[in-house]
Amino acid sequence: MASYLQIHDDEKGYDLDLFCVPRHYEKDLDKVIIPNGLIMDRTERLARDIIGDMGSHHIVALCVLKGGYKFFADLLDYIKALNQNSDKSVPLTVDFIRVKSYCNDKSTNDVKVIGGDELSNLSGKNVLIVEDIVETGRTMQTLLSLLSKCNPKMVKVVSLLVKRTPRSSGYRPDYIGFEVPDAFLVGYALDYNEYFRDLSHICKLKEEAKEKYKV
Ligand code: IMP
Ligand code: MG
Repeated sequence: MASYLQIHDDEKGYDLDLFCVPRHYEKDLDKVIIPNGLIMDRTERLARDIIGDMGSHHIVALCVLKGGYKFFADLLDYIKALNQNSDKSVPLTVDFIRVKSYCNDKSTNDVKVIGGDELSNLSGKNVLIVEDIVETGRTMQTLLSLLSKCNPKMVKVVSLLVKRTPRSSGYRPDYIGFEVPDAFLVGYALDYNEYFRDLSHICKLKEEAKEKYKV
């Protein structure tokens, strides 16, 4: 089973004024839950674990947009560093897919995949799906079933975060950065109705902010 860094339910987090947070979000956030530096350190180790397991064949890294883009970019930088500094290396190519399942702070049953046409290119490849957060697991299960129709050689999933929630379907990714409490988190490309992607740290959203940015 995948190991991960656990953020406990009673984790107090860090005061916002100890870190650099954009002024326009200061009133919307409760606490910093995972500072950017810790995300980077954990991502470096995930890169090593992934290359250790998958690093014998060409890897296609599939970024799940939009929430996955920061984690994807940073994870690939670490994989690249491993590739260029060791005797063993594997070619790495990238692909992008867009998935939308959320309205306000609720996961909906309706998982939309955009850009599915290119999925057929994944036939016979080792695919690494890179996701920001798994909550119910429905998005990933939908994506995995779509992908299996394209006959990839191997599929692994890495998610920066997994939420501890009774709404989980039981699905667990192959690699997990952090397991987090059942709260709505933003920052490091995780959004609330498109806001907060421009925030470096993963933070807990205040209840008032959910109202303020509601669509
Ligand atoms: P699932 O299908 O319920 O597993 O939800 C997965 C998707 O919902 C993720 O890829 C995110 O885009 C979004 N999501 C779930 N929880 C959060 C959160 O706390 N903050 C931001 N987005 C979230
Ligand atoms: Mg996502």
